Amino acid sequence: MQQKTKIAPSILSADFAKLGAEVAAIAAAGADYVHVDVMDGHFVPNITIGPAVMKALRPHAAIPFDVHLMIAPVDAFVAEFAAAGADIVTFHPEAGPHPHRTVQLIKSLGKRAGISLNPATPLDVLDYLLPDIDLVLVMSVNPGFGGQSFIPSALGKIAEIRRRIDAVSAAQGGRAIELEVDGGINAETARQAVTAGADVLVAGTATFKGGPDAYAGNIASLRS
Ligand code: DX5
Ligand code: ZN
Repeated sequence: MQQKTKIAPSILSADFAKLGAEVAAIAAAGADYVHVDVMDGHFVPNITIGPAVMKALRPHAAIPFDVHLMIAPVDAFVAEFAAAGADIVTFHPEAGPHPHRTVQLIKSLGKRAGISLNPATPLDVLDYLLPDIDLVLVMSVNPGFGGQSFIPSALGKIAEIRRRIDAVSAAQGGRAIELEVDGGINAETARQAVTAGADVLVAGTATFKGGPDAYAGNIASLRS
């Protein structure tokens, strides 16, 4: 059942010299999650934020921190991000040999677990994970950078995952499993993604354009 669309601004597009203030500003502007893109220069061709920065940011907003790990191996860093204040920990199944073990590790730390699918990653990886996870993150760009264009084939994938989530959720008494989309979200692709079945939209460029005075309007226009 779809409720109000959630907006998760990616702080990759924030002013890195003022990250604490940026996090506070998006929370005040109505963001639902703070999306933290963690990159290692190895799994993806960029380096961003580590657990120390994440820990320093955590007191600046009361909304959940949605941590997107684009690192390999992943297991060694899950506990650090959990301790730094992550609420949702999402990883890519290609980042390690045992994705089910990684899900168990995240859940054992009391955090919500997410699986992220790259544009070319097929859905069958979800077959035995969906009953245990809390979120599926569909990449609508290749991970590594903000400001890329939405890849249209993500829409069919979102629709198919929506069906699978609804079936598993119904079999589990309506347990919440969120369907989040990440990359190239603007007013038009937001509408397309929500129509296809997304319930959480990551938005970096579209949230942070225009500076802090524009954030509330930017977030509201993505949600409508
Ligand atoms: C890409 C990241 C995204 C990205 C989104 O690897 O996972 O979160 O920063 O940025 P926009 O919204 O600018 O495409
Ligand atoms: Zn992301």
